[in-house]
Amino acid sequence: MNNIIIYGSKYGTTKKYAEELSKKTNIKAISFKNIKDINNYDKIIYLGGLYAGGVLGMSKTLKKLNNITNKTIILITVGLSDPKDEVNINNIRKNMKSQLPEEIFNKSKIFHIRGEIDYTKLNFTHKTMMKLLYKAVKNLPEEKKSAEDKAMIDTYNQKVSFIDFSSLNNIIKEINH
Ligand SMILES: Cc1cc2nc3c(=O)[nH]c(=O)nc-3n(C[C@H](O)[C@H](O)[C@H](O)COP(=O)(O)O)c2cc1C
Repeated sequence: MNNIIIYGSKYGTTKKYAEELSKKTNIKAISFKNIKDINNYDKIIYLGGLYAGGVLGMSKTLKKLNNITNKTIILITVGLSDPKDEVNINNIRKNMKSQLPEEIFNKSKIFHIRGEIDYTKLNFTHKTMMKLLYKAVKNLPEEKKSAEDKAMIDTYNQKVSFIDFSSLNNIIKEINH
């Protein structure tokens, strides 16, 4: 079996999770930017940071898969919003469905784990995006705020980490399944 962990990470959180997963499974971890031919692998574990609903690098990487009949695909999103919130999970999955070929989405096992943010590290575009989003949602009535809105309001302009390597345990079980 030729297995691979691929990650899409802009500020390093997803990379940290990918490297921990690599250590615990003995599967090599590589950035989506450096992957040569994804069709060489039998088991593909993709971790991507969430950016405005998109999973960084996922679509670009997985659409190069030709034949998935004998492949195992595990997808993991890393975001700030609460991965235990049902509405949030449904939202993330709906977005993922629109970013992937249908057969890949249907075949994949999907997990959601929580990341971190450090506003001092964000680039200008991301800082501006967050400022606009924050202004748009901060005065919404409580019941209208989504899990994403709440996570953003609670962490705005701060350095906050929800990294929890124990959230990888279920994923490791699935990988070894
Ligand atoms: C511009 C921007 C957009 C984001 N959009 C989302 C989002 O839609 N949902 C979410 O849960 N987290 C969102 N986040 C939080 C990131 O997913 C989180 O910081 C993650 O840990 C980033 O992973 P990375 O460090 O590997 O790039 C966003 C962060 C930024 C800066």
